[in-house]
Amino acid sequence: MEQLVINGTAMVHHETRGSQRDIDALEIGRLLFGGSCEFIAAANSIDSLPPATLPEICFAGRSNVGKSSLVNALTGRRMLARTSQTPGRTRQLIFFNLANCLQLVDLPGYGYAVAPKIDIKAWTYLTYKFLATRPSLQRVFLLIDSRRGVGRLDEEIMQVLDDAAVSWAVVLTKSDKLKPVQIDKTLEDTYTKISRHVAAYPEIFISSSETKNGLEYLRAHMAQFAGSKSNHPSHT
Ligand code: GTP
Ligand code: MG
Repeated sequence: MEQLVINGTAMVHHETRGSQRDIDALEIGRLLFGGSCEFIAAANSIDSLPPATLPEICFAGRSNVGKSSLVNALTGRRMLARTSQTPGRTRQLIFFNLANCLQLVDLPGYGYAVAPKIDIKAWTYLTYKFLATRPSLQRVFLLIDSRRGVGRLDEEIMQVLDDAAVSWAVVLTKSDKLKPVQIDKTLEDTYTKISRHVAAYPEIFISSSETKNGLEYLRAHMAQFAGSKSNHPSHT
């Protein structure tokens, strides 16, 4: 497999670069994420999750890694998902309906030690349960701060997803904070770590919600999961 970096996005090269298919995929992603995006629900228990009627993708990762910021940046909205400089901002599972084709789920972060232990336990349980059992979940985007690389808690989630046979892909966030040579180093380390995991998607995305670097590739990739209520298998 050949790894290349296109506009800051690392990709494992399976197809001809710049093919009409790639160009079409970018356009489909652009159109989808340029469409409507509405908040549907905030859930703090498994019983209060909205129905699994549309395909879903979710944003998981440590507190403060940039999950909510990425939802905003991808959809071109500044205030859709609440963000904060202080870790632990998102405390529920937040669902957004993208153009009636895809649900985006912004998850609470893990590794935030300041909140009361009982709260952390509850968010962690809910997040793990959601990741392992949600029938409409097509892919988990596991966000890793490009400055920190993969940590112990990230490895734990990777294992949970592997065990549940849920496909996941890494997004290295905040790439604007690093020089290209430093990003290459994080990429190399991350490739080594994900190669041990059976449910890992063999492509690592690099993003910056500040500069918007890498977002068009992410949109194109995410758009492949879009569907409709009628053709989604878990629709009841
Ligand atoms: P929790 O909800 O606490 O789990 O955090 P989160 O992962 O949703 O992070 P959030 O999007 O709230 O961002 C945390 C901080 O990182 C904020 O101050 C953001 O402005 C900042 N941030 C997010 N993405 C980027 C990025 O791409 N570049 C830079 N420089 N800062 C970013
Ligand atoms: Mg958040």
